[in-house]
Amino acid sequence: MTEPAFDVQLSLVAEAAGMGKIYRRGAEEIHALREISVAFAPGEFTCVLGPSGAGKTTLLNLLGVMDVPTSGALRVAGTTIADAGRVRLAEGGRDRLRRENIGFIFTEFFLLPTLTAVENVQLPLLWAEKDDHSYAVELLERVGLGHRLTHRPTEMSGGEMQRVAIARALINRPRLLLADEPTGNVDTKTRDGIFDLFRELNADGLTIVLATHDGELAARIDRVIHLREGRIVEGA
Ligand SMILES: Nc1ncnc2c1ncn2[C@@H]1O[C@H](COP(=O)(O)OP(=O)(O)OP(=O)(O)O)[C@@H](O)[C@H]1O
Ligand SMILES: [Mg+2]
Repeated sequence: MTEPAFDVQLSLVAEAAGMGKIYRRGAEEIHALREISVAFAPGEFTCVLGPSGAGKTTLLNLLGVMDVPTSGALRVAGTTIADAGRVRLAEGGRDRLRRENIGFIFTEFFLLPTLTAVENVQLPLLWAEKDDHSYAVELLERVGLGHRLTHRPTEMSGGEMQRVAIARALINRPRLLLADEPTGNVDTKTRDGIFDLFRELNADGLTIVLATHDGELAARIDRVIHLREGRIVEGA
């Protein structure tokens, strides 16, 4: 058999090697991540578990190319973001890579209050001037909100708002869905419903990295990476 012509590692959705992040505030240095090495394969559902301040949000922001590492290497969606601690992709390229490959979900939903559910879902593609109304509707139906299309955030429950945010994160057909404590603002029953939805999306092939300090939630996810004080202490 002939060897594959490409490095199989290139097919990883994201890969960090010895990646670190130091935040500098004046003379103060905060080591938020310390030389972590971890890879995310297509179709994987990974939980990043750790206490407050462990570096979960920092890691998700780096994987989502919202921020850049201060040491080590990072590749996302086949593109080198940083290598040997040097940034290799300029801001415009990072913005584009993020728009085309990444979906983000946050604890606070971040929906625009004056827009309907469908309009909120369409928002990320505004720049593309695409007519994506029917896909936005399809996604809202997919997340179980076909009956809430014209509702505004104030007319929805927390769980419904998070489902709208999930549909919005999917509108650009991302290769990687990043969820930062997505069930931090909802009760446990709603949490379970949202979690089931993540599972279904993953079963459809979506790669997901979910950060949480909720051990009960983590116990239901096959792959758990334990972060503590900026280090992976288990599971890489
Ligand atoms: N922009 C920033 N500037 C300076 N320090 C920061 C910044 N963002 C985070 N930190 C620090 O980096 C460390 C890791 O923070 P991070 O937000 O990644 O933790 P976390 O695991 O997401 O915590 P939580 O569960 O509370 O959300 C913390 O010590 C935090 O104070
Ligand atoms: Mg956080």
